[in-house]
Amino acid sequence: MIDDSLTDHELDDLLFSVSAKSHSSVHWTPIKIAKQAAKWLAPSAGIKVLDVGSGVGKFCIVGALHTEGYFTGVEHRSQLINQAKKALKKASLFNVEFLLADMISIDFTKFDSFYFFNPFYENLVPNLAIDAEIELSDQKYYTYLSHVYHQLETLKTGTRVATYCANDAKIPPSYELVFSTPENNSLRFWIKR
Ligand SMILES: C[S@@+](CC[C@H](N)C(=O)[O-])C[C@H]1O[C@@H](n2cnc3c(N)ncnc32)[C@H](O)[C@@H]1O
Repeated sequence: MIDDSLTDHELDDLLFSVSAKSHSSVHWTPIKIAKQAAKWLAPSAGIKVLDVGSGVGKFCIVGALHTEGYFTGVEHRSQLINQAKKALKKASLFNVEFLLADMISIDFTKFDSFYFFNPFYENLVPNLAIDAEIELSDQKYYTYLSHVYHQLETLKTGTRVATYCANDAKIPPSYELVFSTPENNSLRFWIKR
């Protein structure tokens, strides 16, 4: 049973395959960070949160367990989406969905809050990539950053963003930085003014 007291290792063992677990320490958000970010992104019931690049779904699942928000994960690797859907069944949660898509095709206006765990960096450092399913390039990195920047710029006042280990170049100046962890500034919260 999934409960509040699980460590990252225990949660990974319960939900994920051996291959998914092997990427956990580098690519999936630790529970402590996921809880903190999800509580900021979904402060009340029904808030719609988009995890941009959701991997095997760890952030969304932890967020859904600890808030009353509705979490959508978009992920462009089919193998990871399949894993996420299996994990979701095991977790028996009804406030999460996973979409197989390039995030560029997603309408950001349908969401209140956004989570980014450095999703596009693999394009600059391909040997960090999870697998070879997706073609990577420097050009894609800059296209994605620019797309996100322009999407965020158009969203309503009060839109919330959390970034973890992310390149802040994609956050427009209309977003105020309201929180930053002391250790390497790795978790940051932003709000659209
Ligand atoms: C660092 S992992 C974070 C996973 C998840 N958000 C978490 O915190 O547990 C980043 C994920 O973004 C995905 N990704 C990268 N670019 C993407 C894009 N353009 N559209 C959808 N997913 C993308 C990668 O495949 C990878 O699974």
